Amino acid sequence: MADALKIGLAGLGTVGASLARILTTRANELAVTCGRAIEITAVTARDRTKDRGVDLSRVAWFDTAEEMAEKADIDVFVELMGGAEGSADRSVRAALGRGLHVVTANKALLARCGVELARIAEEKGVLLNFEAAVAGGIPVIKALRESLTGNSVSRVYGIMNGTCNYILTRMEKEGLSFEACLKEAQRLGYAEADPTFDIEGNDTAHKLAILTTLAFGTEIAADEIYLEGISNISIEDIHAAADLGYRIKLLGVAQRTESGIEQRVHPTMVPHDSVIAQVDGVTNAVAIESDILGELLMVGPGAGGNATASAVLGDIADIAKSQPGAQRVPVLGTPAARLEPYRKAQMQSHEGGYFIRLTVLDRAGVFASVATQMAQNGISLESIVQRANGGTPSDAKTIILVTHATMENSVRKAVDGIKAGNYLSGEPQVIRIERPKAL
Ligand SMILES: NC(=O)c1ccc[n+]([C@@H]2O[C@H](COP(=O)([O-])OP(=O)(O)OC[C@H]3O[C@@H](n4cnc5c(N)ncnc54)[C@H](OP(=O)(O)O)[C@@H]3O)[C@@H](O)[C@H]2O)c1
Repeated sequence: MADALKIGLAGLGTVGASLARILTTRANELAVTCGRAIEITAVTARDRTKDRGVDLSRVAWFDTAEEMAEKADIDVFVELMGGAEGSADRSVRAALGRGLHVVTANKALLARCGVELARIAEEKGVLLNFEAAVAGGIPVIKALRESLTGNSVSRVYGIMNGTCNYILTRMEKEGLSFEACLKEAQRLGYAEADPTFDIEGNDTAHKLAILTTLAFGTEIAADEIYLEGISNISIEDIHAAADLGYRIKLLGVAQRTESGIEQRVHPTMVPHDSVIAQVDGVTNAVAIESDILGELLMVGPGAGGNATASAVLGDIADIAKSQPGAQRVPVLGTPAARLEPYRKAQMQSHEGGYFIRLTVLDRAGVFASVATQMAQNGISLESIVQRANGGTPSDAKTIILVTHATMENSVRKAVDGIKAGNYLSGEPQVIRIERPKAL
């Protein structure tokens, strides 16, 4: 049997400690499947005294991840600390620079400087694996990077934040407000004390930026993503969506269009009978549409110690089985030096269906004025419904419109025109509709 593969583990938190436990308890099985033993020989975390639920007493302890990356007797540097900058960034660069393979679950780091890190890994002839960085345990990186080789991808989209999906599911199932569901998510440990990063869509955006690069062979462009979170989704929107045969999900969508590549994260209405609409709670899902395969949808746990460690373990096993000096799969699917510049499709030219909810004063002519604004902007309507409003002000009514495929620019102009009519009694709500191809 070949020499053991020596692992340096930076981070012993939710994912790192799970990984350490699995590597210890499954050591024999892993040695058989990988053809060599996998051993943790070095670790680092902030607090040396904390119980990690695994015996690491015979493993070399390093006070910093940078020192471990530079000096430890290891073959693979596994970064499970998190953070787009600082120690994670410095230690990963040091490990790659030293010619070590690297495995990370750090989407924030990859979204910020993944292309640069891929370039270093490719120059050094080492692997930089990051399956756990997107949708936790779902093997979407491998699918895009390896299994779909030769396919031309037209769209990749998904539910990639369990916190948001949990909140939206509870709102729908129990008729609770966004605030009440967020509090419950925090109590159950599904949401951080400061949930902004999740609920405003930034976390999904990091993951989407990585998927876009793998799908379309363009440089990572996390700052170019159109972003809308779920905090202004109301229970009225959820009910109206249900009445119209839709459910609301926070989707990250990357799509090839004639004018460039769209990257957007926003609350989205998906048809009730689509498979992705059935993905509830903290579960994640990623769909890939490509010319040869057609439509692929993967559903599974997007977070959690074991599920995420499972993806990290798969990355480590790939390294254990790889031959020194062998041809490597490019880190981002396309060699870093050959990634194309990202060409952004402007959001104004996004084409799709729209749900528009207006709270209007109960005056003669309002309904006709709304319809006129739509017509003047060339928007054709699938449905338009007016309802009495239970809330205040007492003379308010709700108008709900669903459009056929139209341009974002036209919808924005129509909504501006409606606002100028001075008959709205609240901010208009606009939610984009996304239709899966077949599933
Ligand atoms: N949790 C998930 O479900 C999940 C899912 C997908 C991806 N990820 C990614 O996996 C990574 C780890 O997440 P996690 O949830 O395991 O985080 P976590 O529970 O907060 O653990 C972080 C670990 O890193 C250590 N650490 C932090 N800063 C350090 C530093 N400067 N030097 C040395 N050690 C340091 C901490 O040490 P102490 O324990 O001593 O404080 C802790 O052990 C992140 O990139 C995250 O985005 C997590």
